[in-house]
Amino acid sequence: MIILGIETSCDDSAAAVVKDDRILSNVIAAQAIHGRYGGVVPEYASRAHLRSLLPVIDTALREARVTMQELDGIAVTYGPGLAGSILVGLNVAKSMALALDIPWVGINHLEGHIFANFLLPEKPVPPFLCLVVSGGHTQLVVVEDEGRYRTVGRTIDDAAGEAFDKVARVLGLGYPGGPAVASLAEQGDPCAINFPRALMQEGNFNFSFSGVKTAVLYYARSLPEESLREQLANIAASFQAAVVEVLVQKTMAAAKHWQLDTVCLAGGVAANKELRLRLEQAAAAHGCRLIVPPVALCTDNGAMIARAGVSRLRRGERSPDELGPVPSLVLGEEEGAASGGD
Ligand code: KG4
Ligand code: ZN
Repeated sequence: MIILGIETSCDDSAAAVVKDDRILSNVIAAQAIHGRYGGVVPEYASRAHLRSLLPVIDTALREARVTMQELDGIAVTYGPGLAGSILVGLNVAKSMALALDIPWVGINHLEGHIFANFLLPEKPVPPFLCLVVSGGHTQLVVVEDEGRYRTVGRTIDDAAGEAFDKVARVLGLGYPGGPAVASLAEQGDPCAINFPRALMQEGNFNFSFSGVKTAVLYYARSLPEESLREQLANIAASFQAAVVEVLVQKTMAAAKHWQLDTVCLAGGVAANKELRLRLEQAAAAHGCRLIVPPVALCTDNGAMIARAGVSRLRRGERSPDELGPVPSLVLGEEEGAASGGD
C-alpha cells in the first residue's frame, strides 16, 4: 500500500510517501518566520502552508519516485493543532483524493507520533506504553492495539515542550526553545539548582510543568545580570534534569502499574538526548524493552501520518468529506487522567 502523508498542524509543512512500513520519502519545510516573534503566529503559519505545501508534496513524490497515479490513498492530520493550518492540509488531501479517485483518512496528530515507532525495524507489538511528549501535549498512552488507545496520564497545565520553549524565552535563547535549552544544558551542572518536581506521589500518572517553569522565571529574576549570565548553563541543565526525572519516573511507574514490558517514546521532546539516555537506563534497570525513533521521526513529519494512514486505510476506514479541523482533538478515552489543561 503506497500512502501519501500530509502534516500541517503547526508550523511545519510536511509530506511523505510510505509503502507499508517503509519510508520512500519524508520532506519538511520549516517556517523560519516564527523565530522573529518568539512563538508560532497562527495566521502566518497558515499562509506559509499555502505557499509551501504543494511544492513539499511534489518533492516528496519525486524523491519517492512515485507518481500521483500510483498512490493508493492519502492520510492527513485533522487535529489537534491550529485550525487554519490544519485546514490547508485537509483541503489539499481531499482535493487530491477526489481528483485521483482514491480513499483518504483523517489522522489524529498524536496517533501519528505514536506510529513513528511502527516505521522502525524493531517495531513494537501491542499492548505497549507510549510516552507522547511534544510542544502541545504530554501524555502516557496505553496502546492496546492499532487504533485503540487509553490515555492513563497527561499534563494538567503546560506540556513538557511548552515548558522548554517558555524557559528558553526567559533565558533569552529564542524559539524553538527545546533544542537551545538542551544544547546549553550540556555545559551546565544538573544538580546546581533544585527545581521542583510536581505530582510525584505514587499512583499519580499526571504531569504538571507550570511550577518548574515559574521557578526558573523567579530564580532568573532574582539574579543580577552578570550572575544570570554565569548561571545560564546551570539553570538550563537543572531545569532539564527536573523535567526529565519526572517524565522517566512516571513512565516507568505506569509501565509497571499496567504490566507492560514495552515502552515507546514519541513527539518532539523525544529528540532530547538526556531524556533518551535516562529512559534507556531506567528501562534497562526495570527489564523493559525501550523503543525510541530517530530524531527526524520524533519531531513533526509526514511519514508518521502516512504510517498511521496505512493502518487505518488497510482496515477499510474512510473519512467523510465533511470532516473539518478539530483543534482540540483528544486521543483515547481518559482513565483517571486529568481532563483539560493542555
Ligand atoms: O512534536 P513537535 O515537533 O510539535 C508538536 O506537536 O508540538 O514538538 C515540538 C516541541 C517544541 O516544544 C520543541 O521545543 C520541543 O519539541 N523539542 C525539544 C527538543 N527538540 C524539540 N525539547 C527538548 N529537547 C529537544 N532536543
Ligand atoms: Zn507533534
